[in-house]
Amino acid sequence: MTEKSSAVWPRDFVWGVSTSSYQIEGAAREDGRGPSIWDTRCLIKGRVANGDTGDVACDHYHRYREDVALMTDIGVKAYRFSVAWPRVLPRGRGAVNEAGLAFYDRLIDALLEAKIEPWLCLYHWDLPQGIDDDGGWVNRDSAGWFADYTALVARRYGDRVKRFATFNEFSVFTLFGYALDWGAPGITDRASHLKAIHHVNLAHGAAVDVLRSLVPGVSIGAIHNVQGTQPESDTPENRAAAELLDEHWNRAFPEPQILGRYPPQVGRAMEPYIQAGDMARICRPIDWFGLNHYGPIFAKADPNTTWGFAWGSAPADAPRSDIGWPIYPDAFRDLLIDLGRRYRLPIYVTENGCGGNEVPDANGVVEDKTRIGYLRAHIGAMNEAMKAGADVRGYFVWSLLDNFEWGSGYTIRFGIVYVDFATQKRIPKSSARWYAGLIEGTESV
Ligand code: FCB
Repeated sequence: MTEKSSAVWPRDFVWGVSTSSYQIEGAAREDGRGPSIWDTRCLIKGRVANGDTGDVACDHYHRYREDVALMTDIGVKAYRFSVAWPRVLPRGRGAVNEAGLAFYDRLIDALLEAKIEPWLCLYHWDLPQGIDDDGGWVNRDSAGWFADYTALVARRYGDRVKRFATFNEFSVFTLFGYALDWGAPGITDRASHLKAIHHVNLAHGAAVDVLRSLVPGVSIGAIHNVQGTQPESDTPENRAAAELLDEHWNRAFPEPQILGRYPPQVGRAMEPYIQAGDMARICRPIDWFGLNHYGPIFAKADPNTTWGFAWGSAPADAPRSDIGWPIYPDAFRDLLIDLGRRYRLPIYVTENGCGGNEVPDANGVVEDKTRIGYLRAHIGAMNEAMKAGADVRGYFVWSLLDNFEWGSGYTIRFGIVYVDFATQKRIPKSSARWYAGLIEGTESV
């Protein structure tokens, strides 16, 4: 057997790319879009590198046709994007913004014309500021507001979009936003964090019911970040920190949503906020498990944080990406096998990718060998997991474009297409060519 034939992909395997609204759209004050909690956070000194904002980002709002053409060149079959809630409902509820809705009509139609399947994620962290002003996810009513927003999106696009995800990375935006002040809205308080977790879970369950009732033939998933969590060093304190971080990071959302119960420590703390019937409202049948994965994480005890845990360092000899994230493809393989057994749902890898700082060389070429190495190793590990029985049905690279990387602003690049933010010129990197070859079958892992 030649090396090229070692990985075999099912014919209908979904190869895609992912993005999110706030990270690429720009046009933050155009055509009636309302502010989101990330617009607000970007204005707070010290929260985002260089004071960067998503005001312009990749200007995708105006350049979406060019971006769809880039996807066509790469040959992807699917595009995962998110709808900006404040673009379609500027205050989060009440008045609808027709111009905002029309933007996603244009995008979806352009994708379908290019034979690229739209995968629509309802929430990738840009909560309308108006909802936050009313308490945001800490207010139990937020679940109903999210269900109403979901109904608007489902009615408008459900004739053309069949793949819906409720939320992106539940635990990241709740932990960072309500316990650690690493993300919007920047609260650091146990009770607020617990309520946010529970209300987001309720919002997920409500949205699943809305989608199921309004979109014929719908296929519904939720997107979870799952990353094996290890103690930075083997002390009882660090082991306890890793165990609690694991509950918050990996289990506080998929377990109630799919298995109908919270993990033990989170569940005990959650008791005051759970009302009769809630667990059944959260645990609604879904069709697939969306996995975002970059690499394992390391925990250490830190009494000064909201929950007593903090991020520890990976072992000094760990292989790392250019931005210092540890690279462990074997952990990805083992995780896929484990998740399949735990949750018994088909898995789509909805994000995987590698951050760097690469720039064009003198000839205008962007060589990103580290990213190609990362993708090759992880896609290879995924294939091994599939051979071992994991039901993985698709893979989306994060990300199509270099974009606004939250607290890191524009300092970290995850795209397989380079973006010059001064001119908005796009340059496919060598990883884009490599990924195109993999999809076409001329490259292998
Ligand atoms: C994930 C986010 C995505 C992007 C990547 C690098 O946690 O979902 O928006 O920031 O990390």
